[in-house]
Amino acid sequence: MTASTGPDLAGRVVVVVGASAGIGRESARWFARHGARVLAVGRRADRLEELAGSGDFTAPMAVCAVDVATPGGPAAVAAAAAALGPVDLLLYAAGASPLIELADTDAETMATVFATNVVAPSQVCRALLAQFAPDAIAAFMSSESVGRPRRGLVTYSASKAALEELVRGWRVEHPSIRFSSVCVGATIGTDFSREFGAELLGDALVEWIRTGQLSERQMEPTEVGETVARILAVAMTQPGIDVTSFAVQPPGPLASM
Ligand SMILES: NC(=O)c1ccc[n+]([C@@H]2O[C@H](COP(=O)([O-])OP(=O)(O)OC[C@H]3O[C@@H](n4cnc5c(N)ncnc54)[C@H](OP(=O)(O)O)[C@@H]3O)[C@@H](O)[C@H]2O)c1
Repeated sequence: MTASTGPDLAGRVVVVVGASAGIGRESARWFARHGARVLAVGRRADRLEELAGSGDFTAPMAVCAVDVATPGGPAAVAAAAAALGPVDLLLYAAGASPLIELADTDAETMATVFATNVVAPSQVCRALLAQFAPDAIAAFMSSESVGRPRRGLVTYSASKAALEELVRGWRVEHPSIRFSSVCVGATIGTDFSREFGAELLGDALVEWIRTGQLSERQMEPTEVGETVARILAVAMTQPGIDVTSFAVQPPGPLASM
């Protein structure tokens, strides 16, 4: 399968939260190129407009510039999605990932991470409940760091662990929707690390390598976004299959000093 081939998603509605950058942007682009009506969500309107105007998309891409971690955010996403029709796929790719040690993490910082990585995905799902199509999929990006917390990213991995438990819980309470956790490995060229402080990052990198927590290779956002989109697109065409979780990680050995 080349980048230009794949399932025909004409008429399918896909909501991507976190589409203004990184992996989510590449997934949104892939879905739109394959015929889906995509709602691209993020805070930066200019980045969303740039994406919507950039592609050879069959159907126009809709955008919703909103902070989903604010009280009205999830409802705004649902209102924008309502204009497109029943939602076949929610892909939650937003994430907050400050690099900060626990001893320096105050309650406000911790609450901000959990607001974006735990509260908002659940609230967006809740806001869309009445709008999901039969056999819809709700997929949420988690992290390979769950269960293996790294120095400086413990609050982040704790939030992703909570997210994974929420996904399992949503599946119990709403078995008509297919819930999926997507475990993502190290990916460069995204905004994930844009606010990492150089000083702590240097120390942390040394320790991540020493403790076998960093792969030698890192993935690119396009290959990750497209791979995730392709797997979910296949699942969309197979309503009898529940893809409850999958991992996308760089091949090869761990990094060494
Ligand atoms: N990159 C990695 O190595 C890696 C590894 C493991 C897991 N992951 C996970 O994979 C997902 C994608 O990662 P990435 O590296 O592509 O991230 P990224 O480049 O930082 O992109 C995150 C996206 O989410 C949006 N966003 C963040 N907070 C938001 C909010 N409150 N409301 C609405 N939109 C919001 C951002 O746009 P705006 O700033 O415009 O809102 C951006 O579009 C994340 O969940 C991340 O935790 C990434």
